[in-house]
Amino acid sequence: MKYKNILVTGGAGFIGFHLSKYLLGNYNDIKVIGIDNLNNYYNSLLKERRNEILKDYENYEFIKLDFSDWDSLVKNLEDKDIDLIVHLGAQAGVRHSLKNPWAYIKSNEMGTLNIFEFARRFDIEKVIYASSSSVYGGNKKVPFSEDDRVDKPISLYAATKRSNELMAHAYHHLYDIKTIGLRFFTVYGEYGRPDMAFWKFTKNILLEKPIDVYNYGNMARDFTYVSDIVDGIVNAIKKDFDYEIFNLGNDRPVELEYAISLIEKYTGKKAIKNYLPMQPGDVEKTWADLTKSKKLLEYEPKVSIEDGLKRFVDWFKENWDWIKYI
Ligand SMILES: NC(=O)c1ccc[n+]([C@@H]2O[C@H](COP(=O)([O-])OP(=O)(O)OC[C@H]3O[C@@H](n4cnc5c(N)ncnc54)[C@H](O)[C@@H]3O)[C@@H](O)[C@H]2O)c1
Repeated sequence: MKYKNILVTGGAGFIGFHLSKYLLGNYNDIKVIGIDNLNNYYNSLLKERRNEILKDYENYEFIKLDFSDWDSLVKNLEDKDIDLIVHLGAQAGVRHSLKNPWAYIKSNEMGTLNIFEFARRFDIEKVIYASSSSVYGGNKKVPFSEDDRVDKPISLYAATKRSNELMAHAYHHLYDIKTIGLRFFTVYGEYGRPDMAFWKFTKNILLEKPIDVYNYGNMARDFTYVSDIVDGIVNAIKKDFDYEIFNLGNDRPVELEYAISLIEKYTGKKAIKNYLPMQPGDVEKTWADLTKSKKLLEYEPKVSIEDGLKRFVDWFKENWDWIKYI
């Protein structure tokens, strides 16, 4: 591994945790510095739990800080000799951006600006950052390709993610920082996010409570298992690009009703479905065109929805003693 001191922002978050664990478990000669403000957008006990697992690795250092605070970022990190940033910290979630738009501007706009500016001031060669399939907005042409127009976001969350891609271009152009933006498509897996559908569905089905099914179930998502996303990020770390954006999805859109039927099968319980209209800001279908990421990034998703959901539901059941409180 070329890089020795890797900064992972959002290190106690779902994807940041899995990436850090993979790096620490597979490379002895690197240090991972995780930063996170452990905010309460969802139960921060889950973030603490992920962090406890990472703290078992000698080469892991965790610093609690808010990266939208420039002075705190510099004070805590200026002497860490960071040579790569993987920027996964953000205010995530489409629906919440209708309720608290300010959180998105703070973490995703100011926060991401601070990350690029930090890379500039401290001569950090490369920044890999999380973008999102939501930048494709209401595009009708599927699968979504990196060459498609993405100038009509339908949520503020999507607007901030697209804006990060534009910022990355400016910082690359002005200061020669190598930037790779990864557009993740609905990521799921163990230690996942409690605000996302699979967590809510599995929990409520186990509790025999109703689940909210939006757009009367007429939705499809290119669900992507977290280990495939980690593989994609690791390839982005290893490969050299000046400025690129890649889709990281599964290239297999799955109907919501089918995903629910799998959760029913693996929990052994029937879902009580509460059908609701489409939520503002949401899209009906996502589907990643992987032509570019397969060719340049050698990205190859391996986990099917059947296997991935089985692993997720098994993990959920095994950890039910604490998960039921999240
Ligand atoms: N999970 C998905 O399906 C998905 C899909 C598309 C894009 N993404 C993007 O991938 C990245 C990781 O997502 P995730 O699913 O792991 O989300 P997550 O919410 O679990 O992780 C993000 C972490 O960032 C931290 N954070 C937020 N604002 C911060 C700030 N100002 N300072 C310090 N820490 C802060 C949070 O506490 C959280 O732990 C995000 O950028 C998200 O927008 C995720």
